Amino acid sequence: MKDQVNDRTDKYGGSLENRYRFSLEIVEAVVNEIGVDKVGMRVSPYASYMEASESNPEALGVYMVNIVNKFGILYLHIIEPRMIKINDKYETPHSLLPMRNAFKGTFIAVGGYNVDNGNKAITNNYSDLVAFGMLFLANLDLPR
Ligand SMILES: Cc1cc2nc3c(=O)[nH]c(=O)nc-3n(C[C@H](O)[C@H](O)[C@H](O)COP(=O)(O)O)c2cc1C
Repeated sequence: MKDQVNDRTDKYGGSLENRYRFSLEIVEAVVNEIGVDKVGMRVSPYASYMEASESNPEALGVYMVNIVNKFGILYLHIIEPRMIKINDKYETPHSLLPMRNAFKGTFIAVGGYNVDNGNKAITNNYSDLVAFGMLFLANLDLPR
């Protein structure tokens, strides 16, 4: 999907529409197979691991939300802009709000959360759910 890594010149490269085409075909196929009420999607528009970065992640994210809204998928699980690399947290003015506001299903935010900022995100209606990665890997009793 990302313009810094996708150098295709066919219908899967170039415009946002083209770069998103492959994902769209997958969503469509899975929805047709198991039903839209069982389909969720995990995406990281801001992340740039393995040279896969995007020059306008917000536009990519919002575009994607508008497309999956047409299907009505169950949830969207998105990595926070502050997690550009897998382990490091960066200060950033960006947020997931444009995608949160555009998405019609259950919105799940992840990346650098703990109990305090996680609860705040829910209270402020910034997200429907918050997910935990590394804290959970390190401690399976995390909910307790
Ligand atoms: C070792 C490791 C491997 C990961 N692999 C994936 C992956 O394959 N796909 C993915 O979407 N996210 C992957 N992630 C990102 C996590 O799902 C999560 O978004 C990230 O760790 C930020 O959440 P946290 O701050 O709660 O850990 C990985 C994270 C770690 C630490």
